[in-house]
Amino acid sequence: MAHTPSPNPSPNPSPNPSSPAAEPFDAVDVIRTKRDGHRLTDDQIDWIIDAYTRGVVGDEQMAALAMAIFIRGMESPEILRLTQAMIRSGETMDFSGLGKITADKHSTGGVGDKITLPLAPLVGSFGVAVPQLSGRGLGHTGGTLDKLEAIPGWRADISNDELMEILRGPGAVVCAAGSGLAPADKKLYALRDITATVDCIPLIASSIMSKKIAEGTASLVLDVKVGSGAFMKDEALARELATTMVTLGNDAGCATTALLTDMDTPLGRKVGNALEVEESVEVLAGGGPADVRELTLALAREMLDAAGLSDADPQEALDNGQAMDTWREMIKAQGGDPDAPLPTAAHTHTVTADKDGYLGSLDALAVGVASWRLGAGRARKEDPVQLGAGIELHRKIGEPVKAGEKLFTLHTDTPERFDRALESLNSGWSITSEEPQTRGSVIIDRIGG
Ligand code: URA
Repeated sequence: MAHTPSPNPSPNPSPNPSSPAAEPFDAVDVIRTKRDGHRLTDDQIDWIIDAYTRGVVGDEQMAALAMAIFIRGMESPEILRLTQAMIRSGETMDFSGLGKITADKHSTGGVGDKITLPLAPLVGSFGVAVPQLSGRGLGHTGGTLDKLEAIPGWRADISNDELMEILRGPGAVVCAAGSGLAPADKKLYALRDITATVDCIPLIASSIMSKKIAEGTASLVLDVKVGSGAFMKDEALARELATTMVTLGNDAGCATTALLTDMDTPLGRKVGNALEVEESVEVLAGGGPADVRELTLALAREMLDAAGLSDADPQEALDNGQAMDTWREMIKAQGGDPDAPLPTAAHTHTVTADKDGYLGSLDALAVGVASWRLGAGRARKEDPVQLGAGIELHRKIGEPVKAGEKLFTLHTDTPERFDRALESLNSGWSITSEEPQTRGSVIIDRIGG
């Protein structure tokens, strides 16, 4: 991944007798170019993405190219061209007729990351249009759509007309991304998922930014997570990913900034679909855990600044019910009942402290995997999720605890899952006699702007 490619010594397409006559390149040449550490030309990148989308280049050849990119890396102009080619593979959206400024947020994903839920209505409550085209969870990180589907009646699939209508009205929409945006990325991401080529900066950056730029938002704030529960475990790599995406966004005319935030430990005190909705509503009611509130407010400030509303006070909007009003409208606009009781799991199991002290560590990945094993997440795209499953964290790192007091409550409909979930959870926490040092803020740095 660290290699810097040198210019391709033979950048011009060479006619290949085995290629279909209409194709200007041969996939094998393109793969070989990158395999040998050379820079791909603009034409090579444009062609391979288009040919892969059309099905002329097969999965096996694209997988080989993805692995070559994983090992050899890409230079900035190649990443830009790859992003542009993936945008061109599908439709783009246009919010310019809305009469509102658009602002969007993307998180690289983490455990307990429910920030979209309070953030979208909070920013929407200031008259900004917030189109949050989101996905479902796969593996140990939850998906925003799965969380919102815990609300009785709420539906993720809405038409483009409904999307525009809600943006004109309440202002905030969280919905399923249509298959028309960057279809090349959709295919390539699924392929990367099964070929160990996901955690590669050029591929992640082009994948995320092609969808965001195709979506047509005027501004974007990226929440790039660092730590055990994130894609990027290493701060230097997360910083490089953030910088790459910020550059891609700004070069495409989308005002983009990034916050680098901690994901060594879960965000908030609740992990799981309905549990995270519950916690988001606490934040919208002016309360909630300090870290969730801090990050929601920091991201809201970025979005409001980008929308030219630097004087807006997001904290006041949480405290005075303005954001909650927008939340209720946006949930109702998508068929949901904001007053309906949320689903709860049929079984719980509580973990208690075996001694006095402080919670010294609480690992995000261990909690995420435990919650997933309880049924909150899915192993395959087509699996259902348990809406009530998940984990409540009664202590966060640095908080005191006495022997016998509750540390965690596990929730599931299928109690045979407790043992495997506990195996993961119990590998990820400790009680210390000394109060541990904590960072005091989830925000590590801000990039861009
Ligand atoms: N999310 C995406 O959309 N793409 C990636 O490559 C990684 C995370």
